[in-house]
Amino acid sequence: MNDDFVPAHPQDPGLDPAQDAGSHADAILKVEDVSKIYRSGDTEVHAVSSATMAVDQGEFVALLGPSGSGKTTLISMIGGLLSPTTGSITLAGTDVAALSKRELTAFRAERVGFVFQAANLVPFLTARENLLYVSTLQKRISRKEAHARADQLLEELGLAARAKNVPEQLSGGERQRVAIGRALMNDPDLILVDEPTAALDTKLGRQVVELLAREIKQRGKTGIMVTHDLRMVEYTDRVFEILDGHLTHVEQPSALAH
Ligand SMILES: Nc1ncnc2c1ncn2[C@@H]1O[C@H](COP(=O)(O)OP(=O)(O)O)[C@@H](O)[C@H]1O
Ligand SMILES: [Mg+2]
Repeated sequence: MNDDFVPAHPQDPGLDPAQDAGSHADAILKVEDVSKIYRSGDTEVHAVSSATMAVDQGEFVALLGPSGSGKTTLISMIGGLLSPTTGSITLAGTDVAALSKRELTAFRAERVGFVFQAANLVPFLTARENLLYVSTLQKRISRKEAHARADQLLEELGLAARAKNVPEQLSGGERQRVAIGRALMNDPDLILVDEPTAALDTKLGRQVVELLAREIKQRGKTGIMVTHDLRMVEYTDRVFEILDGHLTHVEQPSALAH
């Protein structure tokens, strides 16, 4: 049998995430034994339990699981939006959980790009201004450089002709592309994407994810895309499956093809 052969899911249990992480020793992102418990009054929700995963620089991976399985909680912790109850997260050597509030704000602005389910654009700013806005939040580049970068991103994303339109004048797919441009604007190490296609039809969804994959690859970024849509994993390098807060296994997208 060919070593590359991957039997079809679910016959193939894939790799155990902790074991898999052990074989990615040089990973840019390391999530180790991370748990999140939401407490309100007497009730506790174990949203994420002992998650361990490693993602290499330049990889675009999927986090696949049903609604309520802990996907958003996990990537929110990875992006420094939410602190883990226990465990550690390191991005290029930075221990995210050890950062102060102020450091976390800078970490999010400079090192992470977020793309959410709803594009969350500023409604009264044009597509171009939505990109420029994030670069005013951190001043690593000059105004002139920011303008050139925004224009280049809009061009790459097929939005040059829509640059002066406000979100209301854009289609759902266009809005999501603006959100991708915004996430790339600050040249972050890590791109985190939460259900980017939830509000789009399949064809548009595919276009958006394909574009996202291309940008991440071309720019040598690291990306994690949360999805519950099996059809979107083919654009990724590896798939981490999550169920009831537990990362269950890691596999090649081709193992999930149907
Ligand atoms: N702020 C919160 N407080 C309490 N429980 C929460 C909170 N956010 C999410 N949960 C619960 O944690 C679990 C995981 O949620 P979430 O991470 O949003 O899953 P997913 O993104 O996979 O749909 C669910 O049971 C959800 O109800
Ligand atoms: Mg979610």
